[in-house]
Amino acid sequence: MVSCLAKGRSQGEKAPSRGNARGIAARLVWQMAQGRSLSDLFASEMQNVRERDRAFVKEICFGVARRWPTLEALLGQLLERPIKTKDGEVKALVMVGLYQLMQMRVPPHAAVKETVDAARPLKRRRPWAPGLVNGVLRRFQREQDELLQDIDDNPVARHALPAWLLGRLQKNWPDHWQSIAEVFRSHPPLSLRVNRSRLTREAYFDKLVQASITARPIPGVETGVVLDRPCDVESLPGFLQGEVSVQDGGAQLAAELLDLQPGQQVLDACAAPGGKSCYILEMVPDSLQLTAIDVDETRLERINENLERLGLQATVCQGDAAHPEGAWSEAGYDRILLDVPCSATGVIRRHPDIKLLRRDEDIDGLVKLQGEILDAIWPLLKPGGMLLYATCSLLAEENEQQVSRFMDLQQDARERPIMTEWGHPRTVGRQTLPGEGTMDGFYYARLEKTE
Ligand SMILES: C[S@@+](CC[C@H](N)C(=O)[O-])C[C@H]1O[C@@H](n2cnc3c(N)ncnc32)[C@H](O)[C@@H]1O
Repeated sequence: MVSCLAKGRSQGEKAPSRGNARGIAARLVWQMAQGRSLSDLFASEMQNVRERDRAFVKEICFGVARRWPTLEALLGQLLERPIKTKDGEVKALVMVGLYQLMQMRVPPHAAVKETVDAARPLKRRRPWAPGLVNGVLRRFQREQDELLQDIDDNPVARHALPAWLLGRLQKNWPDHWQSIAEVFRSHPPLSLRVNRSRLTREAYFDKLVQASITARPIPGVETGVVLDRPCDVESLPGFLQGEVSVQDGGAQLAAELLDLQPGQQVLDACAAPGGKSCYILEMVPDSLQLTAIDVDETRLERINENLERLGLQATVCQGDAAHPEGAWSEAGYDRILLDVPCSATGVIRRHPDIKLLRRDEDIDGLVKLQGEILDAIWPLLKPGGMLLYATCSLLAEENEQQVSRFMDLQQDARERPIMTEWGHPRTVGRQTLPGEGTMDGFYYARLEKTE
């Protein structure tokens, strides 16, 4: 066993640039472990990171999140006693080192040396830190076959899922949970939505060919394109001109399911950052009135940015869908999209920090909030109108059970079935599963209000 108080290596070595990048990654990982999302952290911290290090730092942070349960189990085996919470940055650095050794194409000697170098700035208050990092990483190198064998025997570590989520996925998806877990350990593809109001998908493929970018259509999604290899989105042909947007194929289904017609009044009641709102407007340009609301004022800015890039118009305002009030709540709507806040268990491939940030005890609160929003928004739908209930969850409580509960109480709600090739039919509504047809996991149910 490596002792938590193992002796450090000699001082005085200057940390090379990658060591610095590893130190930054460890600080971000530690903040993530304390509850901050990677998207928030990248938005606020990346400007302080040298441009050439950014992709490397991001790759490590995403990778550590993806493998977090496995890395925790390994640390349990490698350390005599756990690293104290107040020394969490050292723990994060060890995880950063282990992740490189296990998953990255960094030469192992460089991964160890530079991760140890990144521990040197921690020496002033923790003289033992470089020695501990060095000892743990070298022991992993020596004993990795046996250590990884033990990991294989531990389902949480093997599938890299927290125990609560592993249990829920096994219960909800007894025939699919293993492939879902595997997808959650993989990198997501870069999927695009072609702006159909400007050009056809075929015309956009021609532009990709000219730019030597290979891609495929997303099956069952009219505007969906998935790239064979992710790239910098701003370098994509037509991106800055609004010809394409980044959006998962499963998310694109929302607008396609709404049966949108010219002249309709449409409400997107949980709209930020506005991906689905924008597709709604691209689907029926110029002749549809969209109101996009979100409870989170800061996230409204993202909707406005997206609308601006695409040259689209909507009424965007702050509002609480669980307690409608103000002008937006006085209109009657032909279509309502209710993309409710949820566990996000269907999009872990894109947001692997959910493995750490989401807790089992969050689910009941989310189910309650979703029910409140559904109950409060339904009166805003015109008779004959349609509401699309959507989540990016894989859990029945948030999906078909939520909608069934609502239909049992609401006499004027009836299901409009979704008859498609994609996804899995549920007792009510339909579910895409992560990785199938390149998509993330989304749930959709269409509810019509009887006249
Ligand atoms: C799944 S996200 C929506 C994603 C969005 N539809 C898109 O496609 O870009 C859920 C959104 O619901 C918002 N939200 C949470 N509680 C809300 C409430 N009570 N009223 C309105 N919006 C709420 C969150 O701020 C979050 O932006």
